[in-house]
Amino acid sequence: MSAATSISRRRALGLAGLGAAAVAAGATGWLGGFSGAGTGRLRLPAGEPLQDPAVAPSRSGRLAVELTAAPGARLGGQDTAALGYNGSTPGPTLRVRPGDELAVRLTNRLDQPTNLHTHGLRVSPQANSDNPFVRVDPGTSFDYLYRIPPDHPAGTFWYHPHHHGVVADQVFAGLAGVLLVDPHPGPGAPEPAVSTDRVLLITDTTLDSGGQIVDPTAMDRAMGRQGEMVLVNGQYQPTIPATPGATQRWRVINGCVSRALAIGLQDHQLGLIAYDGTFLPAPATRDRVVLAPGNRADVVVRPGAAGPYALRTDPVERGGMGGMMGGGTATSGPTTLATMIAAGTPVTAPPLPAALPAETPAAGGASAQRQITFQMGMGGMAAASGMSFTVDGRTFDPQRDDQTVELGAIEDWLVTNPSPLAHPFHLHVWPFTVLATSDGTPPLGVPQDVVLVPAQGWARIRIPFTTHPGRSVYHCHILDHEDAGMMATINVRA
Ligand code: C2O
Ligand code: CU
Repeated sequence: MSAATSISRRRALGLAGLGAAAVAAGATGWLGGFSGAGTGRLRLPAGEPLQDPAVAPSRSGRLAVELTAAPGARLGGQDTAALGYNGSTPGPTLRVRPGDELAVRLTNRLDQPTNLHTHGLRVSPQANSDNPFVRVDPGTSFDYLYRIPPDHPAGTFWYHPHHHGVVADQVFAGLAGVLLVDPHPGPGAPEPAVSTDRVLLITDTTLDSGGQIVDPTAMDRAMGRQGEMVLVNGQYQPTIPATPGATQRWRVINGCVSRALAIGLQDHQLGLIAYDGTFLPAPATRDRVVLAPGNRADVVVRPGAAGPYALRTDPVERGGMGGMMGGGTATSGPTTLATMIAAGTPVTAPPLPAALPAETPAAGGASAQRQITFQMGMGGMAAASGMSFTVDGRTFDPQRDDQTVELGAIEDWLVTNPSPLAHPFHLHVWPFTVLATSDGTPPLGVPQDVVLVPAQGWARIRIPFTTHPGRSVYHCHILDHEDAGMMATINVRA
């Protein structure tokens, strides 16, 4: 079922509830003339040209930026109750270079605590750097300072809030933005030359006809909520202009709370050049690229001929509830994300380079092994769904050290998942190489920071703890599960 049919089915089913929705729309006065008003759900216009979020680039080694988190972001040209940074969702794209200093003043104009996580950045987790334990209360500001290491890979990262308990709500409501590390100009294997470089931050949400974010049910939280509208840079099914023969680089980020993506471009193959912010050794031609929540893929696209081509996501089965909560299946359904419109006089672009500036993997074998287990059970007290979501049988406790690692160690972790749902494993600060997964997906061979652990399966990963000391977290990147307690702490000691 596509998002469109899902929305129209919801509209049909929602007719009984029309009165309440119409009252809500009338009461707020928002969106009065909007096409979706009174239907129970907000429908954003499709087919508008894709907009790039505002860009904040560093200058002379420094980027100082203010991010104000507040309700009232515009979507589809309308004021809504969606949350934004500086009034927009997504927030501005932050562009830095290796060796830069990134100073972010985060101001909280929400009615609940928030904070900021620079997802994928290899920066210190301590003090006012990428510290997930920081709490920024309503009405206050916090000054983050991130020092990007000089040897940081150039690539695609993102930022989002990380205050335990409200992460899913805040991301679902619109708080997310792109963070790019650009290479220093100079020698080394070149980045592929492209005519256009775009970010495609994919998020999903559900808004009622009054422009309010729709609350998830207990079942939604248990399976991981999926929004009825899948957005690209905050737009519904936008168009992407292209020229036949000219190459574009698309930095696709899965910023959805729970939805997995399997992206493909009609009549085209994708040239996968980077994943989770690190280059592959060489471009890989793919029909489809899978992105769990949090993953990023940089793909190169070259339209063969004029025409419209749908950028789609195919269904991804995330498993189900087994015998819990009366069963249920969690599928990330197929939908059209955007349409590439190729037009104009064809051009000839240089071929992609045969080699990309990939990172050399950490040398040496693992000095320690650990096993981590994601579990779901009935009767949890902490979770709003009435279920328990744990790591190694425990719900998140920010005071407890769950793993203690010596700085410099290279470790092999076996992440097991006896539950009937797939869980995306994410570790902050220290990216890992996937060695194998139980479903036989061929590993990429380059560092990544989220790996989907199959239902009733496992993932084996190698983690070099060779960079920053400090305390941070690992968790399920289904943000409803993280909020319910499927998160644990790690202390890397110098
Ligand atoms: Cu993108 Cu701890 O998260
Ligand atoms: Cu999970």
